[in-house]
Amino acid sequence: MKFVGEHILSVSQFARSDIDRLFAVAEKMIPYANRKKVTRVLEGAILGNMFFEASTRTRVSFGCAWNLLGGEVRETTEIKASSLSKGESFYDTARVLSGYSDIIVMRHGQEGSVGEFAGASRVPVINAGDGANEHPSQALLDLYTIRQEMLGRRKKVDGLRIALIGDLRFGRAVHSLCELLSLYENIQFTLISPKDLSLPEKYLTLIKERGHQIEESEDLHAGIAKSDIIYMTRTQEERFASQDEANKYRGLLRLNQSIYTEFCEPNTVIMHPLPRDSRGEAQELDEDLNENPNLAIFRQTDNGVVVRMALFALILDVAEQIEVSSRDVNWYTERRFN
Ligand code: CP
Repeated sequence: MKFVGEHILSVSQFARSDIDRLFAVAEKMIPYANRKKVTRVLEGAILGNMFFEASTRTRVSFGCAWNLLGGEVRETTEIKASSLSKGESFYDTARVLSGYSDIIVMRHGQEGSVGEFAGASRVPVINAGDGANEHPSQALLDLYTIRQEMLGRRKKVDGLRIALIGDLRFGRAVHSLCELLSLYENIQFTLISPKDLSLPEKYLTLIKERGHQIEESEDLHAGIAKSDIIYMTRTQEERFASQDEANKYRGLLRLNQSIYTEFCEPNTVIMHPLPRDSRGEAQELDEDLNENPNLAIFRQTDNGVVVRMALFALILDVAEQIEVSSRDVNWYTERRFN
């Protein structure tokens, strides 16, 4: 792909060479994300950050990534705060908002909505999650994290053994991650979910066609035993017909420190796209894992900033100009819990 001026709607747009290029730019962004340097390369540019569905880290990290490149952010955070609630179409909304922005990031609960919006937009649009379909930037930051964690263990993404656990039916982050991982060689996927929440057929077919191994199971303990990565997910309650239906799956698949110690190989990496559900009996990823050094969830969220900076820099064609306006920062920059 050329990146410049393109919409990012699906991970199917990416080849391995595109991912390598993106990650090379992301690595150049680390001093800026870590507040060691500032750049003003996007000074004067405006991001339309349009979130018509709840979000914490995707919305804020896209906004931070843009600010760290020197740009300004304009945000809409709910359907009821936009004229979509008055019956305005995606077409009209896109035509209007793309007149105010240099790029738009959009999340919406309806599958295909971001693609429809992009079709009418005059500027590039990045899909920040469209219903149960895809979440491309999450999968890219997850893959960046996997690559980093594997490097630290002298392993590669090729040959990875990954257990994907939880709501694989509605989990858009999992859908996009499976497809991205299938670009690599000899991945062993262990898919652990209740039968009704299993990975959609189209992803199973794609993974098989690309020559990877799949094992499906409902048994968490057996499934996590031979994995490099455990990727937990939340039951996507908002996609179910009723709360009662979603409640059937609450607490069925939970990872905590004692299960990890008993069943996992040493140094198995624990990931989750977040948010994790920490209410009552849900606890798919128990807080007693918080001090486990193999818990990579906050490395994932930090990596979201550099990967999203790299997407912006490549789409707006400033990746080679970052250092032109770069300078060291002059405020206190140390962080706890690095
Ligand atoms: N991972 C993710 O999409 O989180 P948010 O819903 O908080 O953006």
